[in-house]
Amino acid sequence: MQTYLEVFGRLPTMLTRRLILRPVRMSDAQDLYEYSRDPEVARHVLWDAHRSIHQTRAYIRYLLRQYRSCAPGTFVIALRETGKVVGTIGFMWVQTENRSAEVGYSLSRAYWNRGFMTEALTAVLEFGFTRLNLNRIEAQHECDNPASGHVMRNAGMTHEGTLRQRIYNKGRFADVELYAILKNEFDAARREVHA
Ligand SMILES: CC(C)(COP(=O)(O)OP(=O)(O)OC[C@H]1O[C@@H](n2cnc3c(N)ncnc32)[C@H](O)[C@@H]1OP(=O)(O)O)[C@@H](O)C(=O)NCCC(=O)NCCS
Repeated sequence: MQTYLEVFGRLPTMLTRRLILRPVRMSDAQDLYEYSRDPEVARHVLWDAHRSIHQTRAYIRYLLRQYRSCAPGTFVIALRETGKVVGTIGFMWVQTENRSAEVGYSLSRAYWNRGFMTEALTAVLEFGFTRLNLNRIEAQHECDNPASGHVMRNAGMTHEGTLRQRIYNKGRFADVELYAILKNEFDAARREVHA
């Protein structure tokens, strides 16, 4: 089994039914900027809507530095049909001592409500449990962003509680819903699918 540093240092490309999850490239800047400038996409995430493509390029340079330093990494989400980059999904942190991690994601508004993020999250959970050997994967969303809770539940995560005023985001303290899935739950669900 590779260490998590080795895995993050060489993030793979993964295919799902409709999506490609792969490392970012500088040539993704235009596609990423196209939706990262949308305040509706940025409303419930911890970054501000991009004001210029230079900001998007700076973000890509940051992701590339993360790969080089083997830090918890982010995949871009591209459509298999066209190759267009429509989102990102990745690991916010990993605690090796507890074998736990948190995932976060965002998707271009033009592609919401087609099941894309549920598909991407399911693949990243599998990656976390099989390639990173994690035991627990968390995700959290602001209480007034219920669509993200649907994604977490649809990917098999369990609601664990509400964390009051957990984050300070865009000028206000926000309550968040915490979700998690354990390796034994993930394995049991997979056995059911293959039975
Ligand atoms: C949240 C987000 C990732 C969802 O992605 P998506 O690809 O549209 O998600 P899916 O299509 O897989 O699933 C969406 C689910 O939310 C539900 N939903 C959509 N809008 C909703 C709303 N306003 N209230 C409640 N549920 C809603 C859909 O019905 C669906 O659930 P279902 O399949 O159980 O019916 C996307 O909206 C997004 O990127 N938003 C901006 C960034 C963001 O909020 N990131 C998450 C931060 S925690």
